[in-house]
Amino acid sequence: MRILLIGLPGSGKTTQALKISKDLNIVEVKTGEILRELAKGDSPLAQQLREIMAKGELVDDQFTAQIVKERIEQEDCKRGFIVDGYPRNVEQLKFFDPNFDLVIYLNISAEEAKKRLIARGRSDDTPDAIETRIKIQGDNLKALLEYFSETTKVLNIDGEKSINQVAKETEEYIKSGTKD
Ligand code: AP5
Repeated sequence: MRILLIGLPGSGKTTQALKISKDLNIVEVKTGEILRELAKGDSPLAQQLREIMAKGELVDDQFTAQIVKERIEQEDCKRGFIVDGYPRNVEQLKFFDPNFDLVIYLNISAEEAKKRLIARGRSDDTPDAIETRIKIQGDNLKALLEYFSETTKVLNIDGEKSINQVAKETEEYIKSGTKD
């Protein structure tokens, strides 16, 4: 199964990706984590990535698409995967489309997102970067949901429920659809 998790920053994409990947025994592909690894070190690329991510802006579409393509084409993704963080906009799909079977939308308000990210305190969880990420991702989310509503099954989940409740609802839905 090829699953995409989308939602505002702080909506629980990474948290739920881990649970679902364990439950279904499929690989997690997390673009933020891959890019944070590439941003380590002193190369010009690493420095450029650090600057973009610290501001909460998006990394180049074609570059990100290529990274995701290379990861998904690896052998361990052949029996399925769950992606957290790609695509961030419809344009990225023109460079690489993972052909998702299911899109899970973790729906939370911008207020809840801010509260969670400030409490988490990752290096890009500064007030300015949080505002930028919520603005960019919030705008792109609308277009992505419109696009996927016409092409793919979309599960809309209330992401403000507890972590376990969100996991229970998504897992029940996935299992009900994969029984046969
Ligand atoms: P990325 O690392 O993907 O960050 P993000 O999208 O901003 O999302 P977060 O990791 O902040 O939130 P999440 O939804 O995963 O929530 P989480 O489970 O962690 O991307 C970072 C950067 O990389 C981007 O800004 C961009 O620069 C670049 N990038 C990535 N992909 C890209 C792409 N495709 N194109 C271009 N650039 C790209 O949870 C957050 C917190 O909330 C945690 O503390 C968690 O414990 C808590 N929490 C989770 N669920 C709940 C719940 N139900 N109730 C209460 N608390 C909860």
